[in-house]
Amino acid sequence: SSFTNSTSSISTHLTRRGYGTESVPERKVAVLGAAGGIGQPLALLMKLNPLVSRLALYDIAGTPGVAADISHINSRSEVAGYMGEEQLGQALEGSDVVIIPAGVPRKPGMTRDDLFNINAGIVKSLCTAISKYCPNALVNMISNPVNSTVPIAAEVFKKAGTYDEKKLFGVTTLDVVRAKTFYAGKGKIPVADVNVPVVGGHAGITILPLFSQATPKSNLSDEEIVALTKRTQDGGTEVVEAKAGKGSATLSMAYAGAIFADACLKGLNGVSDVVECSFVQSSITELPFFASKVKLGKNGVEEVLGLGPLSDYERQGLELLIPELKASIEKGVKFANQN
Ligand code: NAI
Repeated sequence: SSFTNSTSSISTHLTRRGYGTESVPERKVAVLGAAGGIGQPLALLMKLNPLVSRLALYDIAGTPGVAADISHINSRSEVAGYMGEEQLGQALEGSDVVIIPAGVPRKPGMTRDDLFNINAGIVKSLCTAISKYCPNALVNMISNPVNSTVPIAAEVFKKAGTYDEKKLFGVTTLDVVRAKTFYAGKGKIPVADVNVPVVGGHAGITILPLFSQATPKSNLSDEEIVALTKRTQDGGTEVVEAKAGKGSATLSMAYAGAIFADACLKGLNGVSDVVECSFVQSSITELPFFASKVKLGKNGVEEVLGLGPLSDYERQGLELLIPELKASIEKGVKFANQN
């Protein structure tokens, strides 16, 4: 990923010599849901990112405290907190990247789809505001079910006449982060060297890690690959159960969200060869949205990369996931057009 092989990138360069700002463009990032379990550590990580010059932290409650706290960190960006709908416009105005971790998380026994009724409405209203106040921003959708919230966002933007398919991203980076960690652990490979593409969607069997394309190669058995695949698909549930009612992944998600936003910023800034997996509008399968490797550039998506060669097991997984992912996409589209 761009994060691991970024030795020559602007951000590594700046990190090494301290937080200089000249020659790095001004970039505003807004986090919606910034006082939440993901929002707070994500806000912290974005405050540490030298590519950010302004950081807007928005939530329906709690942002003055989070913003005051984070603003004392001596890194580049200016931080401001915004609370309540009447301040949402100000939070969004001028944003280059908007990250959305707003909404309720899972409790044990819940699927991501069980969150639909609450989160669909939240995402719809936030996206309506985005189309009004920062229609050109790259949108990083974290709120679940991502398989449906991304199509909802697309429909809202289409209705507003602001939809640009190059600028809407479902954040699936945590699936990649998990696949890398689990693969490295099983294969006894240094994790920093590992790359694993994860395609499909972001829920259960729609999460399809392509371990046949993982690098470096390892000699894991078919059974081990099946176990790794299941663990990646159930990684979120592993955390939900361990937290026993106190929510879902927040810290690893904040890390993953920060990596994805950093990749978006690098793309905007013209860094070459920035590639991350993301759930985007796509024509690489029959489905209108699909996660795969995506090349990021000055306008967002520069190229949606194909699936590459699949093993028989992966091809089977792909066939199995299509109907579920299709239904989740359609559910989102239907919601956006009915409500
Ligand atoms: P949380 O409940 O700790 O935080 C959510 C925050 O959103 C709260 O601060 C709440 O006040 C805020 N919020 C609610 N309505 C809002 C609105 N209309 N505008 C702005 N903010 C609003 O939940 P957590 O753990 O931070 O999870 C957030 C979302 O991220 C959930 O939907 C969860 O399922 C999803 N998630 C996604 C992952 C992914 O891989 N894409 C991984 C983990 C969680």
